[in-house]
Amino acid sequence: MIAPIIYADNAVKILNQNRLPDEVIYEEYRTAEEIAVAIKELKVRGAPLIGIAAAYGLALALNYYTGPETLLKEHFTKVKNLLAATRPTAVNLFWALNKMERIFNHNEKLGLNRLKIILIAAANHMLAEDISINQTIGSYGEELLQENCRVLTICNAGALATGGYGTALGVIRAAHEKGKISQVWACETRPVLQGARLTVWELMQDQIPVTLITDGMAGYIMQLGLVDAVIAGADRIAANGDTANKIGTYSLAVLANYHKIPFYIAAPHSTIDTCISRGAEIPIEERSHQEIRQFRGINLTLPEVNVFNPAFDITPHYMIKAVITETGIIEPPFTESIKHHTVLIKSRGGEHEDFA
Ligand code: MRU
Repeated sequence: MIAPIIYADNAVKILNQNRLPDEVIYEEYRTAEEIAVAIKELKVRGAPLIGIAAAYGLALALNYYTGPETLLKEHFTKVKNLLAATRPTAVNLFWALNKMERIFNHNEKLGLNRLKIILIAAANHMLAEDISINQTIGSYGEELLQENCRVLTICNAGALATGGYGTALGVIRAAHEKGKISQVWACETRPVLQGARLTVWELMQDQIPVTLITDGMAGYIMQLGLVDAVIAGADRIAANGDTANKIGTYSLAVLANYHKIPFYIAAPHSTIDTCISRGAEIPIEERSHQEIRQFRGINLTLPEVNVFNPAFDITPHYMIKAVITETGIIEPPFTESIKHHTVLIKSRGGEHEDFA
């Protein structure tokens, strides 16, 4: 299985996704500051994986702390704020940081040496749990797909965007394991090409049939009748079901609705933000203009051209047929069913796991 992040020998090893698919290179990190840069630069990316990387960042910050214990909490908060400022849209980042903070607070009295072990254990647990959540999402989601299914996806919501296995690609993997997938259409996903570089690489590793298209081709292949379902991941889902995901997802949802093709979101509960009532309230990250003007240093246009580069868009809830989660399939009306599933996930607990 593809492992996008590994903790070993007191260091975090991150598969540098900017180098894929040409090179498979793990880089070693020993500080939260370095991890924050890796998140900003998309070396490590995808909503759940950003959260896991940040959790390891906090664990490292304690592991290498040499200051007085009286200033430990202050240090922890400073590092937490630094990691929280890396990317604004994926709520999993804040979910993971808050979870680590609760574990820190719960165990603070035990002292630095115990806390170091506890936070590493908590980050390791978050990673392992994410993989198992994705496998559950996969098994619920594959039931929605018919035999010989042709699925279209965008960006990379796979093993590379999570602890492993993936959300949207987790559903595709599970369906492929049942022999149900005849074709995956991967949108290249301008401007950073997560589809062309990452999704294609991931699916080809697992011998899942994949065909790459440019983003503008999606409508045409739907019109030709070559798509049975669209499945995307999510960076944040509002309480009413409106969903932020990679720029271009909304266009796919409009096209899928027009062509009467089911449009699904696959995501863990950590992506649902019930504090936000609707999509318009979700902060959308704007990234460097150079991402559009250039690719790997090569000019694609005039260097001084004006550019707009939002990294995500919002798909309205009424265009989404269902949200596939680890507690099952969430269907419209989303406000009610998200409430119901949120109660389910809370009843499973897990907030105060004992890592001591
Ligand atoms: O900018 P990225 O590459 O971090 O964007 C990733 C996406 O939009 C994914 O679809 C989303 O995070 C879900 S990953 C399971």
